[in-house]
Amino acid sequence: MNLSQIVTPLLAWYGTHARELPFRDDPTPYHVWLSEIMLQQTRVEAVLPYYRRFLAELPDVEALAKVPEERLLKLWEGLGYYNRARNLKRAAQMIVEQLGGVFPGDYQALRALPGIGDYTAGAIASIAFGVPVPAVDGNVLRVVSRLAAYRENIDLPQVKRDIREQVAAIIPPKRPGDFNQALMELGAVVCLPNGAPRCEECPLAELCQAREQGIAEELPLRSEKKGRRSEEHTVFLLFAGNRLALRRRPKRGLLSGMWELPGVPGALDSGRAAACLEGWGFPSGELLPLSPAKHIFTHVEWLLTAYQAVLPESSPLPPGWVWASGEELQRVYSLPAAFRQWEPLK
Ligand code: ADE
Repeated sequence: MNLSQIVTPLLAWYGTHARELPFRDDPTPYHVWLSEIMLQQTRVEAVLPYYRRFLAELPDVEALAKVPEERLLKLWEGLGYYNRARNLKRAAQMIVEQLGGVFPGDYQALRALPGIGDYTAGAIASIAFGVPVPAVDGNVLRVVSRLAAYRENIDLPQVKRDIREQVAAIIPPKRPGDFNQALMELGAVVCLPNGAPRCEECPLAELCQAREQGIAEELPLRSEKKGRRSEEHTVFLLFAGNRLALRRRPKRGLLSGMWELPGVPGALDSGRAAACLEGWGFPSGELLPLSPAKHIFTHVEWLLTAYQAVLPESSPLPPGWVWASGEELQRVYSLPAAFRQWEPLK
């Protein structure tokens, strides 16, 4: 099959089936950039409320360059992969300070900004600036692998490069943004992963080599996934009046710099949990065991044992901890989703 045959039917399908998404109404470079960064690792439905709230508060690159980090992380709270937000701000500062506040439209200049890799540079250049460059994400790798019955491992860099070149060769020069988004959209809503393509709905079914050979469900081929390691932790919901004790996470590593519930490694029984409270200088008093919870990150899962305790209003805190009121928990402190799994914090 000659891959260029997909262009016309794919664009026709996109014309009638494209989802209505807010960043498609007004695809400025800033809008496209923000949406593409949010959409990395996160589903469209989960992104939409964040996208709207973020733009309402930070409508342009100047506003983003100036936002205090604490506020930025609060706006990102719950989306995960918080370095995405920090890189957005760093890139915004570079655009304002070094590029006169003008978003670069050139692929290489975009690629040089923090947090912008091949995919994102291609997406911004093609969607916002009409530059005919590919934007190959996981969806596109899957769609093209199936169309061409490509039996290479898409996790290998040279295979990705090869697919990028194949896509680059067929981009329609007048509609690069629509074309790239159409390929992604097809992967997101029709050519689904995990052995579940909806070939009966696919505008390219007639052209698809994998379908013809009956192997669409087996493609693409990928490297074996490394298992996730499991870690046990015990966390404490420590209340005094309506205030909750929080502390900062370390500057490096998972969820660096975010706030967290005080905790210790290991699954503590109530006796050891009481001793832990005393070690922090609190009366151990009544400890209420809460339901255990789990949180899955990319490379690790946390198995969380949790206790709740009510402390005297005047309890002093260890250095660096804060008492956060309900209001502050909503508006100020960014407490990641892993720590918000119990009723009083939902
Ligand atoms: N996934 C990430 N970005 C996308 C876009 N612009 N269109 C469709 N799916 C996407």
